[in-house]
Amino acid sequence: PKIERAEEDTVAYTVEDGIAWVKFNRPEKRNCMSPKLNRQMGKVVADLEFRDDVKVLVLTGEGDAWSAGMDLKEYFRETEAEGLGAIRKAQREAYSWWERLRWYEKPTIAMINGWCFGGGYGPLFSCDIAIAAEDAQFGLSEINWGILPGGGASKVAADLMPLRKALYHAMMGENLTGKQAEAQGLVTEAVPAARLHARVLEIAQALAKKDGHALRATKWAVRRVAEMTYDNAEDYLIRTQEALHNFGGVEARKEATRQFLDEKSFKPGLGTFDT
Ligand code: ACO
Repeated sequence: PKIERAEEDTVAYTVEDGIAWVKFNRPEKRNCMSPKLNRQMGKVVADLEFRDDVKVLVLTGEGDAWSAGMDLKEYFRETEAEGLGAIRKAQREAYSWWERLRWYEKPTIAMINGWCFGGGYGPLFSCDIAIAAEDAQFGLSEINWGILPGGGASKVAADLMPLRKALYHAMMGENLTGKQAEAQGLVTEAVPAARLHARVLEIAQALAKKDGHALRATKWAVRRVAEMTYDNAEDYLIRTQEALHNFGGVEARKEATRQFLDEKSFKPGLGTFDT
């Protein structure tokens, strides 16, 4: 039976113990991204960003897929039939939520449970940490249907993978397993599918215990310095550390130092201080 999904139902989420579990929710279409889904993701991601009960966001997919990329029917064919205005609008709706996630206030984890194609590399890159099932499948399938990996996908491959691997991956249209994606730098780690949820939960819980302001500054710093000269990076990092002082950074550091030097209740080399 054909499912006509309302816009609100293209994304599902729950918030539990500080972790927002956000799902691409079009399993019947392998979670490909339609304009409706992109608009709803934009709303959900924005609504969760400043909630006090959300410390970490996990992005995963319902069913067999993480996301089968852009919706070839609703995102490409139907918008192209409406003309350039519709094309640009659909692009903005997609790129804007990926961008928001790329510079999200909270740490983010992609939990790749299955298929991840083309346009899916945008949100994949947006997430700070990516944990895949070993048998997930990653593909820049664009070449298989006569286009190039756009929507940032070529940039994601070039930034994350060694150049020789990125070129082969983009030109051949062959899929990588989660394990291969790990070896080539596309994801942080691959684990057996049966352990995927437990491993992501473990990372999310560890992140949730850390100082949120320091985490935000850290993830933004690593992304920013990737494009800077050494001198610019050094300067940027001094300014950013000093800017943390606006968010209680002086007190946090004093307290952490006290717990280590005076109270001897933790060692920074072995764990997190008690915030
Ligand atoms: N766009 C539109 N519809 C899609 C997409 C997509 N990207 N992916 C899956 N679907 C639809 C199918 O058309 C099908 O719809 P139907 O039930 O109305 O016929 C439904 O989802 C299920 O898909 P199947 O192909 O039947 O699922 P299967 O499990 O056999 O295969 C697979 C999964 C391999 C992911 C396959 O669907 C596929 O190749 N999808 C396209 C992947 C892709 O190349 N995406 C585009 C990347 S390029 C870009 O994003 C710019």
